[in-house]
This record gives sequence, C-alpha cells and structure tokens, in this order.
Amino acid sequence: MKRPLLMTCLAACAFAAATAIAGATEATVTSPVPGDPAHGKTLYQACQACHSVDDNDLGPKHRGVVGRRAGSIADYNYSLALKNSGLTWDSTTLDRWLSNPSALVPGTKMYFKIADAQVRADIIAYLAELK
Ligand code: HEC
Repeated sequence: MKRPLLMTCLAACAFAAATAIAGATEATVTSPVPGDPAHGKTLYQACQACHSVDDNDLGPKHRGVVGRRAGSIADYNYSLALKNSGLTWDSTTLDRWLSNPSALVPGTKMYFKIADAQVRADIIAYLAELK
C-alpha cells in the first residue's frame, strides 16, 4: 500500500509546483505580488547607498515617488532618458524599473537591479507610504 500513496504525493507535488510556477509568471507579467511595507523599510537600506527620502543624493529623493511622473524632481539632474521616458511611477512601472532599470529606460544612469519579486514588492509598498 506504500506505493500508491507515494505516487499520489508525487502527482500532487508536481501539480502544486506547476501551479506555483504558473502563478509566479503571471505575477511578474500582470500585477506585482503584494508587499510588506515594514519589511520594505529595512530593505530600503540598500537604496540608501544612492537615495534618501527627503534629499537628492546620487539619485533623486523618494518622498511622493508613487504617483509622480518619472524624472520630475526640479532640482535633480536626471538622465535625458528618464526625463523623457513619459512614465508615471506606480506599482507596475516601479516593479519593472527595479527588475532592470536599463531594460525599462535605455540610457538611464541607475544600474541597481533586484531579482527577487517579493523584495521589489516590499520596497514598493514602503515607497507608497512616503507621502
Ligand atoms: C548605485 C546607486 C543607486 C542605487 C543603489 C539605487 N538607485 Fe535609484 N536611482 C539612481 C540614479 C542615479 C537615478 C537617476 C536615474 C536617471 O536619471 O536616469 C535613480 C532613479 C531612481 C528612481 C526614479 C525617480 C524619479 O524621480 O523619477 C527610482 C524610483 C529609484 N531610483 C528607485 C530606487 C530604489 C527603490 C532603490 C533601491 C531598491 C534604488 N533606486 C537604488 C541610483 C541608484
């Protein structure tokens, strides 16, 4: 009786894995996964090498970034590429940006990438709280 049980498990596990992979693909293409802003605040330390919430640094300041037009802080010297991108920052554009800025905006001067979708979502949830 051991064998059928094992087979059932194998089939179920394969199905679960396939569903998880399908779900992950869908999440990156259509809507980003939900984020945890408290965790995002901790993860934001990686951004602080170049950014801060209220002051321009190597990168532009971040307060109010969600809902803002890309390249629109008046006293920050953006690349022409980002300035002319026509993007508005929301959870979808930010997710694509943080996955690979140069793929979204060729010619940008931000090179920092985050491969993990959950990490991106947590950071975006934190950015959304910076009103
Ligand atoms: C190594 C430096 C560096 C790091 C690290 C970095 N950035 Fe940037 N970021 C930049 C620069 C430089 C720009 C301006 C890009 C341009 O003008 O093309 C920028 C621009 C941006 C913009 C566009 C803002 C606007 O006003 O249009 C966002 C959003 C952003 N960064 C988010 C992040 C987040 C979130 C992190 C951390 C996960 C991060 N960045 C990490 C250098 C960095």
